[in-house]
Amino acid sequence: MKRSEKGSGRPLGIIIVGASGDLAQRKIVPALFALYCQGFLPRDFHVYGLARTPMTHEEFRARLMMHLTCRYVPGESCAARMAEFLGRCYYSAGQYGSVDAYLDLFQMMRGIEGRQAVDRIFYMAVPPSIFMQVARALGDSGLVACGSRKEWSRVVIEKPFGRDRASSDQLVQEMGKVFTEEFTYRIDHYLGKEIVQNLMVLRFANLVFEPIWNREFVDSIHITWKEPVGVGLRGGYFDSFGILRDVMQNHLLQILALLAMEKPGDYSSAAVRDAKVSLLRCIPPPALDEVCVGQYAASPKGPAYKGEPSVPCDSLTATYAAALLRIRNPRWDGVPVFLDAGKAMNERINEVRMRFKGVPGNIFGGQVGELPANELVIRIQPDEAITMKVMNKTPGLDLKLEKTELNLRYQTAFKEEIPDAYECLLLDVIEGDRNLFIRSDELAAAWDVFTPVLHELESRRIQPEAYPFGGGMPEAAFGLARRNGLSAVQG
Ligand SMILES: NC(=O)c1ccc[n+]([C@@H]2O[C@H](COP(=O)([O-])OP(=O)(O)OC[C@H]3O[C@@H](n4cnc5c(N)ncnc54)[C@H](OP(=O)(O)O)[C@@H]3O)[C@@H](O)[C@H]2O)c1
Repeated sequence: MKRSEKGSGRPLGIIIVGASGDLAQRKIVPALFALYCQGFLPRDFHVYGLARTPMTHEEFRARLMMHLTCRYVPGESCAARMAEFLGRCYYSAGQYGSVDAYLDLFQMMRGIEGRQAVDRIFYMAVPPSIFMQVARALGDSGLVACGSRKEWSRVVIEKPFGRDRASSDQLVQEMGKVFTEEFTYRIDHYLGKEIVQNLMVLRFANLVFEPIWNREFVDSIHITWKEPVGVGLRGGYFDSFGILRDVMQNHLLQILALLAMEKPGDYSSAAVRDAKVSLLRCIPPPALDEVCVGQYAASPKGPAYKGEPSVPCDSLTATYAAALLRIRNPRWDGVPVFLDAGKAMNERINEVRMRFKGVPGNIFGGQVGELPANELVIRIQPDEAITMKVMNKTPGLDLKLEKTELNLRYQTAFKEEIPDAYECLLLDVIEGDRNLFIRSDELAAAWDVFTPVLHELESRRIQPEAYPFGGGMPEAAFGLARRNGLSAVQG
């Protein structure tokens, strides 16, 4: 079935709580516009913004317009499409915890939609500390459709979901009083990235990978995430979470789950998420000496983390972390998995590097010495690509072997526009497809991996190792990688 045919056919109201913020304006609304341009939104849809900042509808639309692009409707018709789209966007100011704010919003929506049954998406684009007050006030206002009504109300919440297993459980429980699990869509936007979705296709729609996707053939796995910028104006938010919670517990663990899980029974959201949960439950929490943390210091490329706005001058928050994980199941036992993530580093990269074991019985020994191992590299950003590093004979009369790449670069291989992760995820919410969203038991299993070490780092007040802004991996992380046989890990 074409995606545009999967909706309920009812009108749709998308309510963005925190609509004055960065996520709403830079990601959510541009993604909705992209879906609109491609004909994926229902004919009768409206976007409603709610936040505290006083604004008229026109001021709200002017702010939104700054971030809309003509990717899907190039040329002169774009301005008309933008005007049509923005004409369906409305704004209502109010306090997040106030029932009256939602009743006012409801009055406004009624005035626009009439009394017909409308499906609703409530997108929580606010700091996590406010999720609960929004949910409670929404519940108390009676705006959330439940029970036997045919129209639905779905809630979308952004990570981070809690700070550890206990707070995450509490959030799940409290939110569950308003939105049941079936209607809750926990977004980890990495799962919406095209190449991350391709992981399952790569593994389960090709015969060649599955037989070598195990401890017999794989030497080690390295999943890395680095960006060259510091926390900038988001220091207040970042300092209360740190890189382990902001990136590793969610993005990297989710990528690992897709990479290493068993083949699901089918492609349904229940089967895929069951397979991910089973995998996550096989990962014991790393010990303190299997984790190392760093924090960026001032360099000619940028300020120290402790000098960023809203960051306390004695902060122990990690802006870099590396963790060695083990997967205790028959497929992966003994294969070290190295995760690392850092801000203010020497490059922008997010990739998976699967290194295979050496070739037994090297018949070219005399010519080349030891054969380098094959590597499969899946680059998630920038410039999405899948690369297999293989040995080849270089052309010529001599027998010379060289490590070369079988390369699938998305930009050259596919002529199609690569959709933004939020486009894909929002369309899934509209269609009720929960495959790419984090289920509560999956969230709990992911927190179980990192909660013990997070508590230990905090209770022992472990000092992160300083690394220069714009520098490579801290020394301790190299040590951790080398001690555990990951000699190929590069800084
Ligand atoms: N930005 C991103 O790219 C990104 C990526 C991944 C996840 N997220 C997550 O998405 C959510 C929204 O992110 P964001 O970057 O849009 O956040 P934001 O800009 O900091 O906040 C969104 C809106 O919430 C209100 N707000 C901010 N701080 C508040 C406070 N202390 N008390 C009450 N209201 C406050 C502000 O609106 P008013 O003052 O007008 O009420 C603000 O415009 C967060 O949970 C964040 O962790 C964001």
